[in-house]
Amino acid sequence: MKHPVLGPGARRAFLERALALGAAAFLQPLAGCAAPKVRFSAYPFTLGVASGAPTADGLVIWTRLAPRPLEGGGMDPVAVEVRWEVAADASFARIVRQGHGIARPEAVHTLHVDVDGLEPAREYWYRFIAGGEASPVARTRTAPAPGHGDERLRIALASCQQYEQGWYVAHRHLAAEGMDLVAFVGDYIYESSWGRDFVRQHSTGEPHTLDEYRTRYAQYKTDADLQLSHHCAPWIVTWDDHEVDNDYANDLSEDLDPHFLARRAAAYRAFLEHMPVRRPTLDANGGYALYRRHDWGALAQLHVLDDRQYRAHEVCPKALRGGSNVVGDAECPERLDPARTMFGTGQERWIDAGFERSRARWNVIVQQTLMAPAGQPQPDGTVKHWTDGWDGYPGARAKLLASMQRTRLANPVVLGGDVHANYVASLRARPGGPIVAAEFCGTSITSQGPGHEKTSGIQSTDPDIHFAEGTRRGYVVLDFTPARAEGRLRVVGTVKEKESPVSTRATFVVEDGQPGVRA
Ligand SMILES: [Fe+2]
Repeated sequence: MKHPVLGPGARRAFLERALALGAAAFLQPLAGCAAPKVRFSAYPFTLGVASGAPTADGLVIWTRLAPRPLEGGGMDPVAVEVRWEVAADASFARIVRQGHGIARPEAVHTLHVDVDGLEPAREYWYRFIAGGEASPVARTRTAPAPGHGDERLRIALASCQQYEQGWYVAHRHLAAEGMDLVAFVGDYIYESSWGRDFVRQHSTGEPHTLDEYRTRYAQYKTDADLQLSHHCAPWIVTWDDHEVDNDYANDLSEDLDPHFLARRAAAYRAFLEHMPVRRPTLDANGGYALYRRHDWGALAQLHVLDDRQYRAHEVCPKALRGGSNVVGDAECPERLDPARTMFGTGQERWIDAGFERSRARWNVIVQQTLMAPAGQPQPDGTVKHWTDGWDGYPGARAKLLASMQRTRLANPVVLGGDVHANYVASLRARPGGPIVAAEFCGTSITSQGPGHEKTSGIQSTDPDIHFAEGTRRGYVVLDFTPARAEGRLRVVGTVKEKESPVSTRATFVVEDGQPGVRA
């Protein structure tokens, strides 16, 4: 577009408007002009790079300039031009796409590039260059073309990586296993320090402001094993509670803080700045529609859901009940109200419409927490229910599973996390009804899990839970082919040491056309 020549009055008005915008507006390079030379005080790509949300012809690539990551990034408040390159080979002999992006101070010098024009179903390598410094080179890949159903898909399911409680041994192992996708289902950061036997410490106290959340992401992302996991495969992400605050629900924190929405918006913004997602901008109300669908040819469709932002407030909140959100039906009958939503009406409609339209062989429901009913037996013979999980929303769970049934959704496989334990289950829309879906709820990367007594107690209340164990850390590898899906529960020896071997704790299979897990 050509710029009109400004008369003297118009020029003055333009300058006044620019001054009103503040100095930062002047410091951004103008289109067509040479960018100012940038010099970093230290190596700027300390947080590595990442890719995500692959389609058949593109994906998002991400980086952040942060020479001093724990001191606000260490960048001057100026926009910086960053060159990016995507190549068909790891040595960058065949660069297929390249360009320039602007890392802006208002986005703490993060950069998201939505790359298009790539070929389906192939590997690519990418890197960023700024001020004479080059980022690490990372591998990624695109999805198969629409209609191609003879492909394979290997997903790593990961969640819950409390930084203080362990080393990211699991990430190093999963990176080496040749993933097509990493599905991270929440608790990428933790806002709080909790648990025992720390191997390292958060650099700051609990975050509440944007800058504090940014520093928390920066610290987590300095970890070399987490970077490696991003450098080996594209990620798809959703969030859970600890990206903001433990057990928050919609616009309410667990302690019912009336100013919570401002904190939530700061936390969401920092999340979007640091994750390889498309269009990472908050809406006018400080919310963000994170739910997405991703296609893997005709083999699989991934329905990525958000069960935090729009859920009904927790029933019988623990802030009013002396600290426990595990309740019996006599003390909290409102738990059973069928109107209680987990997704909000807008997302619910979007889910139903997507199920209706899906023609994929496998439908992978990527969401936050354990979906199987997980009652906790009590010494007096009664059963109690944890209200922050799906058991706090049984009506919404029945509705979601009934929607899968009604739309005849092909081969639903539910993925989850949050509970720091491996659970493998078959799911029914109602007790005694037919099995509708299979579930793999993966254990945590580091966050400490429940003991054997708790998981076996839960398993004793639900015969559809085929496996339950919370004492091991790790991830799940899911291999999808047209004939079957196989889930391998990968567990590491210990996260308290930097080096520890990985092994397969158990393997479960879902056959095409046979709902649920083959027990
Ligand atoms: Fe967690």
